Amino acid sequence: MHMNELILKKRNGGIHSNAELTYIVNEFVNGLIPDYQMSAWLMAVYFQGLTAEETASLTKAMAESGEQIDLSSIHGITVDKHSTGGVGDKTTFIIASIVAACGVPVAKMSGRGLGHTGGTIDKLESIPHVNVALTKDEFFQIVRNVGVAVTGQSGNLAPADKLLYALRDVTGTVDSIPLIASSVMSKKLAAGSEAILLDVKVGSGAFMKTYEDAVTLAETMVAIGTHNGRKTVALITDMDRPLGQAIGNAIEIAEVVDTLQGKGPEDLVTESLELATNMLYLGGKGSYEACKCLANTTLASGAAFTKFCELVEAQGGDTSVLTKATFKEAQYKEAVLAPVSGYITHMDAEICGRAALALGAGRYTKTDAIDYKAGIWMLKKTGDEVVAGETIAYVQSNTKSTLEDAKARYLSALSFGAAEPSKQPLVWARVT
Ligand code: URA
Repeated sequence: MHMNELILKKRNGGIHSNAELTYIVNEFVNGLIPDYQMSAWLMAVYFQGLTAEETASLTKAMAESGEQIDLSSIHGITVDKHSTGGVGDKTTFIIASIVAACGVPVAKMSGRGLGHTGGTIDKLESIPHVNVALTKDEFFQIVRNVGVAVTGQSGNLAPADKLLYALRDVTGTVDSIPLIASSVMSKKLAAGSEAILLDVKVGSGAFMKTYEDAVTLAETMVAIGTHNGRKTVALITDMDRPLGQAIGNAIEIAEVVDTLQGKGPEDLVTESLELATNMLYLGGKGSYEACKCLANTTLASGAAFTKFCELVEAQGGDTSVLTKATFKEAQYKEAVLAPVSGYITHMDAEICGRAALALGAGRYTKTDAIDYKAGIWMLKKTGDEVVAGETIAYVQSNTKSTLEDAKARYLSALSFGAAEPSKQPLVWARVT
């Protein structure tokens, strides 16, 4: 087999065999296919696509390119969850706490921020002393004792994805549905959970900008999971406005705490309960209706908040700071004022995410340090009526010079109009 022949085959619309895709992945990981050939092949895939069988074979080869975690020693059906990335999306902490409090084990490996989207691990790391780089033994121990652990991805989990992602990022081949599906699912398969809930975001702040593309991506990923013997469900959820009121790291954790204490914003509570219901369903806790009831009562009883505190403590974090104002306050804070009276008719969630990035809440380069206290607290969102001069958000940072730029960026993300916009659903569809 020669890579130049395989590039020509895909360029001309041919269909690869399982053996060819395994060869491409293994040779690339072993450094035997140079980046320039792999880039050409990725571009051929971008334009010609992959069949369902090709995507399944590619994913399997990527999942098998490194360590595969065996969670069989953990009692109960382990359920994983993956979001395709959003702005203000802190649901992992809420739903993992609910689900673990109901006895379904959650062994969660998460990533850092990517582009304008925030990362679960960065948010968790805003809690003083918390360990987000657990050893395998620590990870297993905490899942066994507490029922939930959240750690950064192990270095050798799906290394093919790491190499391919870095190349796709710089060769214009990120937004290809089979490549995104194989990237996400290779990590999920290697992470070992028996069931997988996928949260596929759609809208201005998501990689999938249209409903049709989001459904195709969801169907592709569900087919891969099912084909590999994992119970897989996907929800298509709204990312045409940021989720909740907070964008950042510590302020998002503070919002998680508020939500677990029964004081969360409606959109975040509704979406989290829907995701938790589906995770409980995948975890074998009964009918959809029974799981919905269980999720609601577990949140309302405070059991999920207790579970979140246990998780933080088990990972070495200081829970005493979580409810203190100082945990979420930055040195500098300024109000964003409504420029006109009327309704907020649309929010470009990607620009909102970029405004938070400008405050220091994310990274421009891999080595940038995060300002964990930086972020945006939104008081008014799409559909809300505002009066000119009224405070609609606060921007905060430990670097004063970032505030003006962030305010301008945030305002540029908002559209105003005289008529109230129609309400969009939070959960668009469920794909099984
Ligand atoms: N998230 C991933 O893990 N991979 C992609 O390709 C895109 C989003």
